[in-house]
Amino acid sequence: MQFVIPLSKKGDPLFRQVYRGLRQAILSGTFRARDRLPSTRDLAEKLSISRAVVLLAYEQLVAEGFAASRGGSGTYVSEGLARGRAKKLENSASLKLSPYGTAAAEVAATVDFPGRRSVPLRYDFAYGGRGDVENFPFEMWRRILLRHARKAPVHQLDYGEAAGSFALREAISIHVRRSRAVLCDPSHVIVVNGSQQALDLVARVLIERGDPVAIEDPQYQGAREVLRAAGACLHPVPVDRDGLNPGQLPKDACVAFVTPSHQFPTGAILPLARRLAVLDWARSRNAVVVEDDYDGEFRYEGQPLESLQGLDNEGRVIYIGTFSRTVFSALRIGYLIAPKSLVPAFTSAKWLCDRHTATLEQETLAEFISTGMYERHLRGLRRRNTARREALLSSIQKYLGERVEVTGDGSGTHIVLWPRKRVLEDTIVAHAAALGVGIYGISRYFLTRPSRPGLMLGYSRMNESRIREGIRLLGEVL
Ligand SMILES: Cc1ncc(COP(=O)(O)O)c(C=O)c1O
Repeated sequence: MQFVIPLSKKGDPLFRQVYRGLRQAILSGTFRARDRLPSTRDLAEKLSISRAVVLLAYEQLVAEGFAASRGGSGTYVSEGLARGRAKKLENSASLKLSPYGTAAAEVAATVDFPGRRSVPLRYDFAYGGRGDVENFPFEMWRRILLRHARKAPVHQLDYGEAAGSFALREAISIHVRRSRAVLCDPSHVIVVNGSQQALDLVARVLIERGDPVAIEDPQYQGAREVLRAAGACLHPVPVDRDGLNPGQLPKDACVAFVTPSHQFPTGAILPLARRLAVLDWARSRNAVVVEDDYDGEFRYEGQPLESLQGLDNEGRVIYIGTFSRTVFSALRIGYLIAPKSLVPAFTSAKWLCDRHTATLEQETLAEFISTGMYERHLRGLRRRNTARREALLSSIQKYLGERVEVTGDGSGTHIVLWPRKRVLEDTIVAHAAALGVGIYGISRYFLTRPSRPGLMLGYSRMNESRIREGIRLLGEVL
């Protein structure tokens, strides 16, 4: 029988390569049950390797039951090893999915998993989960992380608390009380793997398949995808210049997802009267409001509006925050601040999902916050974002003028340009990309048909001169 095993000098030891070649040949039916394998001497000669190597491979096959040695007569493929058992990478039986699995698979078809552009854009107005990583004090961060890694007491390397390390929960609660007027203490805080996990936990803990759920339209696709996978019945609530219109909240929804400090994606800031109306709606329906405060640290003009959670005196608001934009998104640390009555269910859900968030990173972040380094870094971020926003708005004024309307510039780290003339979003995005300018169409964030095209531009990752040049080029496109 013509039988060859391709061998390579690099990689695995030779005996393993021989073993694997024979194993594959048995599983694929090249050698069938009771067939005699080539003699070790013949195979060694054929492969130009030492017989000892082949012997080792045969020993392994015998030990694992693929073959049996029959005294002096040779080695034979074991009984019961039918042909065609080899696993091919492309083999995939049609397995039954749960309702969640079916919905998740459907969502996957529409999800933008992160990938690299084949040609990076020179002026990329990227937004969403992307902070100013270039200016993050990584040296400092590494030093703290290394110290915790070296000196972590044994108990810290064991399973930790499901809700997160106490030091981090305390640091988070002090920070959000001060900076976002969130009413909480460490016992309300659950540390999660990014706010995406918080959204997922909300769906697990509060939503049954078919439950009516209110969601802003347009909305954050990360929330929409989680809710779709959970089988929620989505009720889009229209958003205008002032954000979500509370008068249009559905009568029967049990949960509403909102982004009041910088509506995602339009950037509208929900005025106080509307915030109170949202809370009234929740009270009258015994509903829960989920406040996703993804960008709440950046506010540029007017009275700072504090969190919706801080206005809630009944314990109906779940507040979600993230370090993705202020530290870096690969850290995967966010927090969910729950009303007291919901803390046990959320803590247990987190434990059931993944036990808890990685301890060393939590301890590092806790120290970064409690020693004031986070606050200092935030001040730098705010300063840079202010300068970048000014450069963006002034160059829009200069190069685009009356051709566009701007929204979302009062807070956050991205704006939306609404061209006044009828244009096709995709065409503009493609033309801009051809000039090296990354801008992003807003229509994918709508559940209903958008009334006009819009373009999203993030400004937290580019310096002022790049921003100006990017907008100048965009002026050519528009
Ligand atoms: C509205 C909104 N919520 C939350 C997040 C952050 O998600 P995470 O904390 O999981 O990185 C983003 C990031 O893009 C966002 O745009």
